[in-house]
Amino acid sequence: MIKVSQGCLGEEELQEVKEAFEYGYFGHAYKVEQFEEALKQYLGVANAVAVNNGTNALHLAMDALGIGPGDEVIVPSLTFVASFQAVSATGAKPVSCDVYPDTLLIDIDDVKKRITSRTRAIMPVHYAGNPCDMDKLLALKAEHGIRIIEDAAHALGSEYQGKKVGGFGDISCFSFDSIKNISCGEGGAVICQDTEYAEVLRVKRTLGIERKPGGERWQYEVSEQGFRYHMSNINAAIGLAQLKKLNSFVDRRREICRKYVQAFQNIPGIGLLRTNYNEVAPHVFVILVKDGLRNGLMSFLRDHEIETGLNYIPNHLHPYYNSGYSLPATEKAYDEILTIPLHCRMTDNDVDEVIVRIQEFFNGRG
Ligand SMILES: Cc1ncc(COP(=O)(O)O)c(C=O)c1O
Repeated sequence: MIKVSQGCLGEEELQEVKEAFEYGYFGHAYKVEQFEEALKQYLGVANAVAVNNGTNALHLAMDALGIGPGDEVIVPSLTFVASFQAVSATGAKPVSCDVYPDTLLIDIDDVKKRITSRTRAIMPVHYAGNPCDMDKLLALKAEHGIRIIEDAAHALGSEYQGKKVGGFGDISCFSFDSIKNISCGEGGAVICQDTEYAEVLRVKRTLGIERKPGGERWQYEVSEQGFRYHMSNINAAIGLAQLKKLNSFVDRRREICRKYVQAFQNIPGIGLLRTNYNEVAPHVFVILVKDGLRNGLMSFLRDHEIETGLNYIPNHLHPYYNSGYSLPATEKAYDEILTIPLHCRMTDNDVDEVIVRIQEFFNGRG
């Protein structure tokens, strides 16, 4: 089976983990701090706060802003349920919005319609690694005094106007789960330029514990609600080795995507998302399958040992988040999207096999 997504870990990660084992303390320790430093350098940002997964990065980011019951956060419906769960975990309401049909990124005009006096934040999702229109979002931040919390789970390594995603906005949250552009096994991070806010994040990620500099280890004070969201030294060890490989991972992902674009651009039954592969570090490759053929293609590929995925079931259609209104572009996309294999363990033969099978499916269908 050619997997749709897969991590790419090797000897270097094992060596780092061995060192973490030998150190013997597996909680927040020196490799977490090294990982945060390496991430800061890579992104060119002031603060990186590592946590145990991307969902908790989003939750922590909002909690530390005081977002909670009575507040609203606008989120594109076409995202992993983690984005929605992170909002509702604060007690705030995730307000579903639509996406542009050609990129599946947050539709700014639709966002504008959904801003109310209760809106505290907008959560753009850099779907598939493609950056959202941050200029327009940051203008809304200034105009309405609301925060932009980027769900950048897909977008480590992507650039926007020559700057890495994470380094140009307000607050960005990354995921390093097992299939992301880099993996820590499990992990996440909140990125921000505001150092005071980063301090709040650091205290909250370890149960609200604050220690006085120079004091005894057992001495601490707690003055607010916190969470047990810190990253372990083992996960950070994996991330450190992965971060060194990120540029080569991005190159390989782009190479595969360019091959796909070349192969599929002239198939009338397939739509491709508008993407600039000179800027984007692609996380998933999503095609739009026209004429109601998506499920047929999915089964055909499964029969040929090619796994596919569906990113994602729109959240406003889940009973828990039912919006009571429809989102036309999102719903149309839901009928057509198909995620085909993209990861660094794919061989050239795997890529060719995916291409040939998809071409075979459409051959003769006009
Ligand atoms: C768009 C998006 N947001 C958030 C998350 C949550 O990240 P994690 O799995 O690390 O909790 C994911 C992970 O799949 C994601 O794809």
